[in-house]
Amino acid sequence: MFSFAPLFFVALTSLLASATPIIYDGRASFNLTAANLDANKGPFLTVVKGSQNASHYTTLLGQNVLATPLWSKARYVPAEQVVSVSVDNSSIFSPGGNPQNGFRRTDLIAANDGEHTELLTKIETGVTAFHFSVKKDDKKPLNLSHEYQPVFIEPNDGTHVFDLQVGSPFTIPTGTLPSNNSNILKIRDHSGNILFSTDFTSNNWHNFAVQVDWTNLKLGVFYSKDNAVLAPVSKLVANAGAKNGTDGQGDFHVALLKLPIANPADSAAQQSDVPHFGSQEGTTEALLYSGVFVESVAQGVSVGYGQTAKALA
Ligand SMILES: *[C@@H]1O[C@H](CO)[C@@H](O)[C@H](O)[C@H]1NC(C)=O
Ligand SMILES: *[C@@H]1O[C@H](CO)[C@@H](O)[C@H](O)[C@H]1NC(C)=O
Ligand SMILES: *[C@@H]1O[C@H](CO)[C@@H](O)[C@H](O)[C@H]1NC(C)=O
Ligand SMILES: *[C@@H]1O[C@H](CO)[C@@H](O)[C@H](O)[C@H]1NC(C)=O
Ligand SMILES: *[C@@H]1O[C@H](CO)[C@@H](O)[C@H](O)[C@H]1NC(C)=O
Ligand SMILES: *[C@@H]1O[C@H](CO)[C@@H](O)[C@H](O)[C@H]1NC(C)=O
Repeated sequence: MFSFAPLFFVALTSLLASATPIIYDGRASFNLTAANLDANKGPFLTVVKGSQNASHYTTLLGQNVLATPLWSKARYVPAEQVVSVSVDNSSIFSPGGNPQNGFRRTDLIAANDGEHTELLTKIETGVTAFHFSVKKDDKKPLNLSHEYQPVFIEPNDGTHVFDLQVGSPFTIPTGTLPSNNSNILKIRDHSGNILFSTDFTSNNWHNFAVQVDWTNLKLGVFYSKDNAVLAPVSKLVANAGAKNGTDGQGDFHVALLKLPIANPADSAAQQSDVPHFGSQEGTTEALLYSGVFVESVAQGVSVGYGQTAKALA
């Protein structure tokens, strides 16, 4: 059972009382159903997946698992369903009929009943904060010998404005597996620099908010574990290499994207073509999500329990 934030957490943090406008709410309400996922109804576009229906890969956990406590309206009253995002050996996405045999992936893309293009311009203007909480699914563990990129914003050039990365970084040739930093959640900037990292402990909700300044091209990170309010864990820094304007905007993915292991039998060019080549074992794996939303930081960054903190400056 979760205990909720003791008062001293609140007292120690510099907090503002007012709410800050939410622009996109990806917290799965209790009326969201598997059929909604299959029909792209609700907060997720579910087209990036393997050959099965979306609800084969994405499971709404109802009352079975408690979401991060940060956004509950009242003590012990859950406000959202936990979402389990999984991959198995059928999780080969085929954009334009060109199968990505290297990856195994299931992506939930921020949308309103399937509409994502207008939404992304709304969530990626001014200064906005991308909230997500992630937890291990110990029944379907990740294989930390592989690299995973579970959360990212991807402009059309295939880069990431920022991402969450875990596992052993993909290398050619393959190094010692798992790598010594594999069980660490890392928030990386556009150039892959690590802004913040923390041990990916089991049985904990790892709560993140990434503040993005879309005009001045800067990033900052807030983090907490379980019931603790979010706190800044980085400075506001230049997002090295990020593009300005529409070229720098892209869909917000809450996903399980698993990279392959380079196959030494493939040519050098093939080994570098990570989406399409490489080895996968075909195991079923999952990650749990809750607390997904995007807000303007005009009146601060939400840190939990209706409280806000000053945006990073
Ligand atoms: C769930 O209920 C809310 C509030 O009544 C409503 O706005 C939303 O459209 C419903 N969602 C679905 C998927 O039916
Ligand atoms: C996907 O869902 C549809 C509608 O519920 C169903 O008819 C179909 O059998 C499902 N396909 C698979 C592969 O499960
Ligand atoms: C995890 O990945 C490594 C590297 O490909 C592989 O050797 C190992 O068998 C995998 N483990 C499982 C449980 O599939
Ligand atoms: C982890 O491995 C990297 C690359 O091999 C090495 O540079 C680093 O010192 C290692 N770190 C630890 C804590 O062993
Ligand atoms: C991005 O473009 C806007 C509008 O043209 C401009 O005000 C801003 O300074 C640019 N940002 C950077 C980092 O060049
Ligand atoms: C996984 O799928 C690939 C591509 O369809 C196939 O070649 C491979 O044999 C499958 N592996 C397992 C363990 O089923």
